[in-house]
Amino acid sequence: MLDQIRDIEQEALAALAAASDLDALEAVEARTTGKRGALADVLRGIGKLPGDQRTAVGQAANAARKAVEAALEARRTALEAEREAALGTLEALDLTQPAPGDAPWPRTGGTIHPVQQLIRRVEDVCQGMGFDLLDGPWVEDEQHNFTALNIPPGHPARDMQDTFWLTDGHLLRTHTSPVQIRAMRERTPPIRAVAVGRVFRNEELDATHEHTFHQIEGLLVDREVNVGHMVHVLRGLIAEILESDVEVRLRPAYFPFVEPGFEMDVTYRGRWMELLGCGLVHPDVLRQGGVDPAAWSGFAFGMGIDRLVLLKYGIEDIRHLMGGDLRFLRQFGSGVEA
Ligand code: DAH
Repeated sequence: MLDQIRDIEQEALAALAAASDLDALEAVEARTTGKRGALADVLRGIGKLPGDQRTAVGQAANAARKAVEAALEARRTALEAEREAALGTLEALDLTQPAPGDAPWPRTGGTIHPVQQLIRRVEDVCQGMGFDLLDGPWVEDEQHNFTALNIPPGHPARDMQDTFWLTDGHLLRTHTSPVQIRAMRERTPPIRAVAVGRVFRNEELDATHEHTFHQIEGLLVDREVNVGHMVHVLRGLIAEILESDVEVRLRPAYFPFVEPGFEMDVTYRGRWMELLGCGLVHPDVLRQGGVDPAAWSGFAFGMGIDRLVLLKYGIEDIRHLMGGDLRFLRQFGSGVEA
């Protein structure tokens, strides 16, 4: 009987040492220390033993049960630790993995803002025609934004461009025309330059007025430049930008920094549309830019970008453009960037 107990214990300890998972442990437990296990059988048989053997067999069986239970517990702890370590590796996330194809969100990149799409096109076309791309600051001084452009303090044109004044006397540029002054002061003629960017006006907001919008400014300074040159260049540029043949017409208009000054209309989808302001650079403005008006002349133009975008896509409210609503912006998917 004692031999039998020792065999049971040894078989169990060997099986535990070899057990590779929790199922195997449970099998050992069931057949050794479980209610219907081998040790329980032994104890049940104790009553049939001669009295002097009962104590020894009972103690041996209990000792074997304790030994097996201890080994079982130790092995269970070890196996659980192993399993957790394995799970850790399995479940670790590799954030550089591409999302699976059946991810619940669409895997699009960002889309290029419709205003930016048009700006890129305009910049491309202008560069193709030999204009350099310039940049100017959003925070301007009165000198560049107004005075040097022939708009002295008290001039009514200042009131027409509701201005965001900063507390230190600077302002947010109300148009891109100050870049003309910067271009002339930084360069020597001949000059062919365009500047595209944000402008700001302190306006009452509604479907056609936004405080932040975009303009393109162009400046060409060369010898004996006339209105014919201007019309030719602008017609070519606009046809390229709108990707269609266009008719253009000039209407006289007043801008302090050009003389003569015009508004240019173009045909777009069969209708005349007012598109931009332009004219021959005023001699005083050339002088302000350090350019001698006796030797040089030039033309300039300024065009709003946002209204063109509204027209192109049939958008009814300009406030959508700077509103930042992704549901709106995602509709202009062309030019998706990865
Ligand atoms: N700066 C003018 C505006 O914001 C637009 C403009 C008109 C620009 C005529 C020009 C120009 O360069 O020649 O209303």
